[in-house]
Amino acid sequence: MIEAARQRLIFALDVDCPHAAERWVEQLHDKVGLFKIGKQLFTRSGPDIVQGVRERGGEVFLDLKFHDIPNTVARATVEACRLGVRMVNVHALGGAAMMRETVAAVSECCRSEKLFRPLLLAVTILTSSDQQTLLEIGLQRPVDEMVVRLARLAREAGMDGVVASPREVPLIRQACGREFAIVTPGVRPAFAAQDDQKRIATPAAALAAGADYLVVGRPIARAADPQRAAAAILEEMAAALAENNRG
Ligand code: C5P
Repeated sequence: MIEAARQRLIFALDVDCPHAAERWVEQLHDKVGLFKIGKQLFTRSGPDIVQGVRERGGEVFLDLKFHDIPNTVARATVEACRLGVRMVNVHALGGAAMMRETVAAVSECCRSEKLFRPLLLAVTILTSSDQQTLLEIGLQRPVDEMVVRLARLAREAGMDGVVASPREVPLIRQACGREFAIVTPGVRPAFAAQDDQKRIATPAAALAAGADYLVVGRPIARAADPQRAAAAILEEMAAALAENNRG
């Protein structure tokens, strides 16, 4: 179960320099399956950082949240596949056509070029947005309703899953079924500080609620002993996975 847990643990590489990112991968790759590269690190380091992570034993979740016209997002996502990432995401607010075109372009490219086909994830409503934020842009519906609506739209467009806060996981699981992947940040083990996260869950609670992958940053990065912190999270995840399998 520890290996199954490792494959579901994603460490957020929230650093601005490629050397620091690569040091984290060297330290953590035996406990963490995927490393999340976001806009800051990618913009600073360029696409070579994906190779840098992979050469050190990590796989990559490319968290660039593409949102543009369908052709542009489809082409950008194809380039992410060529870099060899395992997960990549787009904004569901870009619409069904944008997601459908992306799914089609990625499937075709991965088939013809014999590439690994990454999980295609959608971001629904950013957790930094609240009701007021939606009203400001003319969306009158409640946040939870929009989250579920966009998750359904993503699934119908052929996307493989979504990124969602722990609080949203049960709603999305219910609406989109067991096969739809849910990646959850805002995870805080009992030993860690809450930081600026508002809607948090422990690793075990997030998995029990139906999450498939957990994104963890500061509880590992800011621990006195990051490897020990990662190992403790893995053990908690492994126990929760064993429990879920029994249930
Ligand atoms: O340090 P922490 O564990 O809070 O890091 C969580 C990571 O997940 C950060 O990279 C953060 O930007 C990202 N994230 C999040 N909430 C979302 C989407 C992404 O915390 N809704």
